Amino acid sequence: MSWNFEEINITVQKEIQEISDEIQLESFRIKYLGRKGLIADMYASLSSLSKEEKPLMGKNANILRNTITTFIEEKKKVFRAEQKKANRSFIDVTIPGMEHSVGHKHILTQTIEEMCDIFEKLGFVVQEGPEVETEFNNFTALNIPEDHPSRDGFDTFYLEQKDSNQKDQNLVLRSHTSPGQIRIMKEYKPPLAVVIPGKVYRPDAVDASHSFMFHQIEGLFVDTDVKFSDLKGIITVFLKKLFGRDLEMRYRPHFFPFTEPSAEVDIACYLCKGKGCSVCGRSGWLEIMGCGMVHPKVFEAVGYPKGKYSGLAFGLGVERITMLKYGIHDIRMFFENDMRFVRQF
Ligand code: DAH
Repeated sequence: MSWNFEEINITVQKEIQEISDEIQLESFRIKYLGRKGLIADMYASLSSLSKEEKPLMGKNANILRNTITTFIEEKKKVFRAEQKKANRSFIDVTIPGMEHSVGHKHILTQTIEEMCDIFEKLGFVVQEGPEVETEFNNFTALNIPEDHPSRDGFDTFYLEQKDSNQKDQNLVLRSHTSPGQIRIMKEYKPPLAVVIPGKVYRPDAVDASHSFMFHQIEGLFVDTDVKFSDLKGIITVFLKKLFGRDLEMRYRPHFFPFTEPSAEVDIACYLCKGKGCSVCGRSGWLEIMGCGMVHPKVFEAVGYPKGKYSGLAFGLGVERITMLKYGIHDIRMFFENDMRFVRQF
């Protein structure tokens, strides 16, 4: 029997192309290379061939066997690679997810947000101002006189400037958030109610109650008929909400250049409830914020018409209130980032 190798080759090529998995490939292998396969048949039939035909047929059978073997090997490689890829992209959705540690907001951020939330519910809008301020906004416009001690280089960080012949244009790191009032009033006409949270800077030696950077929240409400009783109402609601209970509080007359009259607000000491202890310096009271009615000179500095408006303002220290609220005894703990402290809140 003689074989048409050309035809067989074409058939083999066609068949191999149609194979799409390893099972089909195995059937193909058996069909050609198996013990009872075509190649085996060929070798078996060689003995019946003539002396002349035998070597050629034998050679062709070898070539065909090698070709088929190579095809099978290559096809196998392709299937294995595909399998590997499929395994890799397989997502087992039943495996429990990995928990990522995303951290949480610092207690000062939490407190600032909590305070701003309360003021927002009272109708205030939250605004922010720059930490680098002009001497004008930080002092002059706030009616702070030229010779006021807070203007001293010991109490305020002045920025080095090449050209500083115009005094009001000197730049400082704001020493309080009150210049935020000036920025708002220069830009907007009353009625306005804003709170301005942010960082402030003072060249203080660092100790348990002082830091060269801390946070304040400034409040400002201006309209045609704002009264001191409005100030008391707002602060009373704010402190009760913040401390979550009926607080005893008092207003003590005080002096600030930018408010008249001015007051400081005290709350009954959280520790001794007013009896007197080391936290409140035996007085039973804790000073918590400054406030007052906006001074006419401040309205004048921002260009508001004389006598038209009245306003209330207040300023509070975020670290101090947070320390009182949570019984933290050292301001440095806020900034050291010891995770044992940070994670408690
Ligand atoms: N700016 C003052 C300070 O840093 C706090 C303050 C007091 C702000 C009275 C006010 C205010 O708006 O009316 O000590």
